[in-house]
Amino acid sequence: MSPAAPFPAGFLWGAATSAYQIEGFPLAGGAGPSIWHRFAHTPGRVARGETGDLACDHYHRYLDDVAIMADLGLDSYRFSVAWGRVLPEGRGAVNQQGLDFYARLVDALLERGIRPMATLYHWDLPAALHDRGGWLNPDSPRWFADYAEVLFRALDDRVPFWITVNEPWVVAVLGYLEGQLAPGHRDLFETPRVAHHLLLAHAQAVAAYRSLGRHQIGIAVNLEPQHPESPSAADLEATNRRDAFINRWFLDPLRLGRYPEELASIFGLAWPDFPETDLERLRDSGDFIGVNYYARGLVRAAPDAPPLCAARVSPPDAELTAMGWEVYPRGLTQTLLWLKERYANPPLYITENGAAFADPPPRAGRVEDPRRVAYLRSHIAAAAAAIAQDVDLRGYFAWSLLDNFEWAEGYDKRFGLVQVDPRDQTRVPKASARFYREVIASRGAAAMPDWAPRGDAR
Ligand code: FCB
Repeated sequence: MSPAAPFPAGFLWGAATSAYQIEGFPLAGGAGPSIWHRFAHTPGRVARGETGDLACDHYHRYLDDVAIMADLGLDSYRFSVAWGRVLPEGRGAVNQQGLDFYARLVDALLERGIRPMATLYHWDLPAALHDRGGWLNPDSPRWFADYAEVLFRALDDRVPFWITVNEPWVVAVLGYLEGQLAPGHRDLFETPRVAHHLLLAHAQAVAAYRSLGRHQIGIAVNLEPQHPESPSAADLEATNRRDAFINRWFLDPLRLGRYPEELASIFGLAWPDFPETDLERLRDSGDFIGVNYYARGLVRAAPDAPPLCAARVSPPDAELTAMGWEVYPRGLTQTLLWLKERYANPPLYITENGAAFADPPPRAGRVEDPRRVAYLRSHIAAAAAAIAQDVDLRGYFAWSLLDNFEWAEGYDKRFGLVQVDPRDQTRVPKASARFYREVIASRGAAAMPDWAPRGDAR
């Protein structure tokens, strides 16, 4: 491939969001509450007591947002469906109003030539299911597959890409082990069972899709290469444990039919003896892997921090985003090459990549965010470097289209290409949005080092 065409024909350029982070009005139109609605309304859980009650009011402004996407030239838009809008009790009766919202969104996207990528679970479990044990209940994979079937029947004629679960690691570890995200549990014994049920939920939805769907379905995982802080044996071992824990926990069962053996020693007594028949059902389920990449992990042994006994540290001279995450574009190339080698060259999409920075307010209608532009540029170039080494990468989705509700951090961590003023909902595309439009128009060439810009990217 020539340097002028670093991405293959048909490569999808997109942007991503999720329901609770942007929609607002989480109980409108007959929806049932989710665990995130409850969590955000529990004092002390989210910074400054912020909630997703209003968020970006995308629930009412989705047509404006689709117009913004069209202006950017997006090929595809990744959004998530709020389970509780469609099934207020999580199972049983369908709420037509909720389903209609997503049908209208999908139609508006298609009218603008934007291909929908729908995520079925981006963390907002219906509270009614949580009250029945949530992801700890062995019936939870069946609940999820039934919900997925409702969506497949209603929208697969118009939705070419489906994602089952977004970042099962985050759900299991941050939701059930460390407790900083909903439902806020801290229970070593719950964590592996939640993770296992999320994997089975994914596999059962994929199985349902094989009889109902005509397109592509996959999972989205958060990945980060793990590097030792020093060459000491202790740091190397800690790095390997953290690699198993973050990168291999979910993909090894799906691609190789087994859990990494390190997990049994990390979890000790809390690691159940999972039936072999379950692992057979997990293997090879899905058409592609969605990769959410933000940073690498630099690892130091931490014997006093069980169960993992490995701490993530920042190198002293690193550039950090507002999240405290290291800017490390080479890690994206490494991650994509690792996936190709370890899992026999699977089809991949980068389903999230982006950075939070404290952006200035608009000046003369413009928001300058040069650090986000640099972040996007270097990471898109890192994706191209992987493609040059024969990685089967088929698309890139920037996180995020809009500044939004960043979970326990609230609204102050801004990832958007488009600034959203939380007081009046004004949307102002940032310099990064203009840059990304240029990237898309040039089919990626504008992110390459040898790119000669044609004047100002409007
Ligand atoms: C990912 C989540 C996404 C967003 C980004 C910053 O872990 O999938 O919703 O919060 O991080």
